[in-house]
Amino acid sequence: MMMVGKFITFEGPEGGGKSTHIKRLAERLKALGHEVLLTREPGGTPTGEAIRGILQHEHTGEMVCPEAELLLFEASRAQLVRTVILPALKRGVWVLCDRFADSTTAYQGYGRGFDIETILLLNSQAMGECIPDLTILMDIDVQAGRERLVQRNLAMNTTSDRIEREAVDFHERVRAGFLALAQRWPDRIKVVNVKREPDVVAAEVWQIVERCLLRHSDMASE
Ligand code: TMP
Repeated sequence: MMMVGKFITFEGPEGGGKSTHIKRLAERLKALGHEVLLTREPGGTPTGEAIRGILQHEHTGEMVCPEAELLLFEASRAQLVRTVILPALKRGVWVLCDRFADSTTAYQGYGRGFDIETILLLNSQAMGECIPDLTILMDIDVQAGRERLVQRNLAMNTTSDRIEREAVDFHERVRAGFLALAQRWPDRIKVVNVKREPDVVAAEVWQIVERCLLRHSDMASE
């Protein structure tokens, strides 16, 4: 199926500033005249946001078992892809998504220990033909990421969610998992070191996106 928009995902450990940088990228793309849709996982649809509530805050009073957690992330994704992302891409919209399938591989695969190839299979069921054109991996070491998270929670008067409260070694596995995925798919996943000034990070994100845009238009003119 012909898709005309571009699909960019932002991934990485907590505290990497994904939400800030995804918004900055959206503004820059809009200034160039692109129509941009910003969304997130889990969430982005009424079904997905309900799932997000279940996953983040145990408001049912019941522990979500790891298998249910995995499938809930996939369910949120399946709904988002079919009702929001694919229709937008087909209209020519650029879709920017805060977390996507690589998060499941990193958190549920490398973090929780589910078999990686099984997760990749589940991811592909959930996302169908909707594979990101580009993934920006906002990389930060676990200690620094956690410090930033504490600052953010203080500033916003919020508390850590269920997954953020996991032990340090879980988050170390998640970070290493993301980096392993970047090695496996170097053409799609670009690593950005976020332990620098926000303007420097934003400039690097933009450079990467420009390269991707350029390659795209080169291919289109072949
Ligand atoms: P965030 O959107 O604030 O980063 O929170 C989402 C949380 O859910 C974060 O801790 C990462 C986690 N997560 C997974 O464990 N698996 C997934 O597939 C996704 C999308 C997120």
